Amino acid sequence: KEPIYILAIESSCDDTSAAILNHKNVLSNITASQKIHEEYGGVVPELASRAHQQNIVPVVHQALNKANIDKKLISAIAFTRGPGLMGSLLVGTSFAKSLALGLDVPLIEVNHMQAHILAHFIEGQEDGIPEFPFLAMTISGGHTQIVLVKDYFDMEILGETLDDAVGEAFDKSAKILGLPYPGGPLVDKYAKEGNADAFQFPKPKVEGLNFSFSGLKTSILYFIQKETAKNPNFIEENLVDICASIQKTIIGILMDKLKKAVKQTGIKNIAIGGGVSANSGIRNALRTAEKNRGWKTYIPKFEYCTDNAAMIGIVGYLKFNEMDFTNQSVSAKARYKI
Ligand code: KG4
Ligand code: ZN
Repeated sequence: KEPIYILAIESSCDDTSAAILNHKNVLSNITASQKIHEEYGGVVPELASRAHQQNIVPVVHQALNKANIDKKLISAIAFTRGPGLMGSLLVGTSFAKSLALGLDVPLIEVNHMQAHILAHFIEGQEDGIPEFPFLAMTISGGHTQIVLVKDYFDMEILGETLDDAVGEAFDKSAKILGLPYPGGPLVDKYAKEGNADAFQFPKPKVEGLNFSFSGLKTSILYFIQKETAKNPNFIEENLVDICASIQKTIIGILMDKLKKAVKQTGIKNIAIGGGVSANSGIRNALRTAEKNRGWKTYIPKFEYCTDNAAMIGIVGYLKFNEMDFTNQSVSAKARYKI
C-alpha cells in the first residue's frame, strides 16, 4: 500500500516526541521537553514518566496536524522499546500498542541507540548519507558509544563509557561552576571566549575504545575547591578560561578514541549523534580531521541529534520495508543492546 506513512513515538528519557514520516521524509517532528527537571539539576525518573503521561496525547495530535494527514492513512506505529528509563518507556510503549490496535496497523519496536545512528538516513541533511561501513559516535547526556555500523541492522559496539556519559561530564562540570542544568551548552558558549590552554586537567587512562569521565569530574571539583580557597572570586574571574580548558579536555578524550577506532578499523567515514553533537568543539575537531586526516564526517541536523521521534520514524520505515513487525505482547526494555 503506497504511500507509506509512519507515526513514531519516543519517550525514553525526558522528551516526549512524536513524528510523521512519509518514506524517508519527515513531515512533522514535535517534541515536548520537560522543564521540571531543571529545578533538580538532573532528570527525576518519577517526574519524567508523569510528564510523558500528560504530554503524549497533545504531542501526537500536534504531529498529525502539522503533517496534515488523516490518521487513517498511517501505515504503522513505531515506538522506542529501549534502552531508557522504565517508567518513561512504559508510557510510550503502552500508548503505541493501544494506537496500533485502535488503527488496526502494524507495530514496530525501535532500539533508541540504533535510532540515534540511523537518524543519518533521514532525507535532506547537509552531509548526505553515510556509506557502509561507517563508525558512529553517539554522545549525549545518556550515552557515549563508538559503534561499527556494517549495515542498517548490523552494528557492533567497539567502545562505550564505563561510568558517566560525556553530556553528564559537561553538565556536572557546569554544576561545579555554579551554572544551571543542563550546563553543557553554557560551557560551550563560554569556552568560545576563553583560553583552552589556561588550565590542565588529566585525561583518563582507559583501555581500548572505552571511555571514563567520572575521574575528570573529580579532578575539576578538587581544582576548583583548591583555587577558591585561595581566591573566593576564582570562578567568576576565570569562567571563560575554565570552560575552554574543560571543553578542550573532553573533546580531546573523544577525538583520541575516534582516531584509535579509525586506526583499528581502517574506516574513515565518521558519523556522530546525540545532544553533545551540538558542541562547537567537537564540530570543529571533526571538520579539521576531515581536512587533515581525509575523514568524511557526518553531523546530523540538530533536531535529529537530541532525542526526537523522527529518528524512531526512520527506523520504523526501514523495518516496515522488511516487514519487521512486533506483536502486542512486546514489553519495554530498560537495558537493550544495539
Ligand atoms: O541527546 P540529548 O538531548 O539527551 C540525552 O541525554 O539523551 O543530550 C543532552 C545532553 C546534555 O548533557 C547537554 O548538556 C548536552 O547534551 N549538550 C551539550 C551541548 N548541547 C547539548 N554539551 C556540550 N555542548 C553543547 N553545545
Ligand atoms: Zn538519546
